[in-house]
Amino acid sequence: MTSQQPAGPAILLNLTRRPEPYPPHVRQRLELDAKEIIARYPHPRSALLPLLHLVQSEDGYVTGTGIDFCADHLGLTGAEVTAVATFYSMYRRTPTGDYHVGVCTNTLCAVLGGDAIFETLQQHLGVRHGETTPDGAITLEHIECNAACDYAPVMMVNWEFFDNQTPESARAVTDALRAGEPVRPTRGAPLCTFRETARILAGFPDERPGVLDGMPGAPTLAGLRAAEDAATADGSAEGPR
Ligand code: FES
Repeated sequence: MTSQQPAGPAILLNLTRRPEPYPPHVRQRLELDAKEIIARYPHPRSALLPLLHLVQSEDGYVTGTGIDFCADHLGLTGAEVTAVATFYSMYRRTPTGDYHVGVCTNTLCAVLGGDAIFETLQQHLGVRHGETTPDGAITLEHIECNAACDYAPVMMVNWEFFDNQTPESARAVTDALRAGEPVRPTRGAPLCTFRETARILAGFPDERPGVLDGMPGAPTLAGLRAAEDAATADGSAEGPR
């Protein structure tokens, strides 16, 4: 500012202090995990996405401490790590409950009942998008299409599928989760906690029973079957696949 310019109100840069680092025993443990993850890639910076899942598995969300940890180990700046962590919605920026409940409110799910499910859960749980129930059990979010439109409306709990939901069935799932009762997704492996899920997403072994089981269901294959039938009818079929 030159001396000719009128004095304006002070501009306060709301800079925060650097976050506290992890305690030594936590850092030591995370460093072993980080080393294993980074070794999978030709360049350390390529390991950023799984490393963000790793720190999310430690803290339940991506904290400033976690961002510094990633930056230190990948030769990146905190700003670069933050830019990535805030771009992808699977990285959360506020504390997350044991169960992240995501209701798909993209077009197809929305019109088939996703909007009603989300509204019902907001009322039932007393939380809004991104908030966590006071008991720390459930974080509710509306989510984008999870490529499960053939089973719309879909709800995800810790990224496991709950297909063909209704407001009543979704409410029953959240009640059971909060009561600590066993809840099975419609398909895939049994549920684990949000932090355990984050560790799996960081690339560590998923040892849940049935994790590799499952075949595409009839709704998923309906288009393929229709195409095959049409090809057979006009004689252009190449034969069964
Ligand atoms: S619109 Fe909901 S899974 Fe695709």
